[in-house]
Amino acid sequence: MNRSSPTEPLRRSQLRRAPCQPAGQRNLNTVLHITDLHLKPGENDRLLGVDTADSLRAVLARALGDARPDALLVTGDVSHEGDLASYRRFAEILADFYAGPVLCLPGNHDRSAEMREVLGDASALDLPEWTLIGLDSHVDGQVGAELTETDMTLLERRLGASRGRYVLIATHHPPVEVGCPWLDKDRIQNGAELLEWLSEHAGVKGMVFGHAHQVIESAYEHLALLGTPSTCFQFAPRTERFTVDERKPGYRWLHLDAQGGVRTEVGRVDDYPLTLDFSERGRSAGRASKPN
Ligand SMILES: [Fe+2]
Repeated sequence: MNRSSPTEPLRRSQLRRAPCQPAGQRNLNTVLHITDLHLKPGENDRLLGVDTADSLRAVLARALGDARPDALLVTGDVSHEGDLASYRRFAEILADFYAGPVLCLPGNHDRSAEMREVLGDASALDLPEWTLIGLDSHVDGQVGAELTETDMTLLERRLGASRGRYVLIATHHPPVEVGCPWLDKDRIQNGAELLEWLSEHAGVKGMVFGHAHQVIESAYEHLALLGTPSTCFQFAPRTERFTVDERKPGYRWLHLDAQGGVRTEVGRVDDYPLTLDFSERGRSAGRASKPN
């Protein structure tokens, strides 16, 4: 694919809003999407003043208190520094709240080998009428997205194996511009061509992603494009430079119906005491100074 292709303008989302699916009603495939956990190894470690393990617990408690999903989707930046201890913390925290199927993808802060050692290497997840397919947009030690020919071959193979199920593609980096130039430079650069190609597959219904730490709801042709807030701190929409805002930790419900419809809603822990502290910025270098 031509990696320099411009992103196509997006049409306004036609997504329908939906209340949380009450437990016991199984006519939908229900997926809980969380992203950008940025866990650190130490018990009291904080990032920009936020205890990211504590905010993850708050998100899981709030979301899973509302409903039980058929699957959990995690789209990267599980760990902030890519260390084994952070992945073990994630596994321990998750075990306190959830025991079902998980599809977990790496983000730019993750490291493949360490993540795989603790969390395994699932790349797709089958539900009764749907398949969630993971597309690995990350490269160890690199902030920006990169899709290789191998990634695309794997995606094509998984699409072929979905056997008539509807498909949702999950990845870390947005395939489109989100309106923040400082984030947009690291999106999937050939996203326009990727979306054009995916839109030719009638069974593929959308892409869900993280990285932007904010709500994105748009569409390309019949594809829903859904970005989900971080489980810790959020980036302010439409900003030229790195800007964190006061929005609370969040998550997204995806209700996938038997006719290929996607209904969705974002939830937040509105009463979470977000303790933002920017004093560490400027003292740090490299990835830690720009925690997207
Ligand atoms: Fe992130």
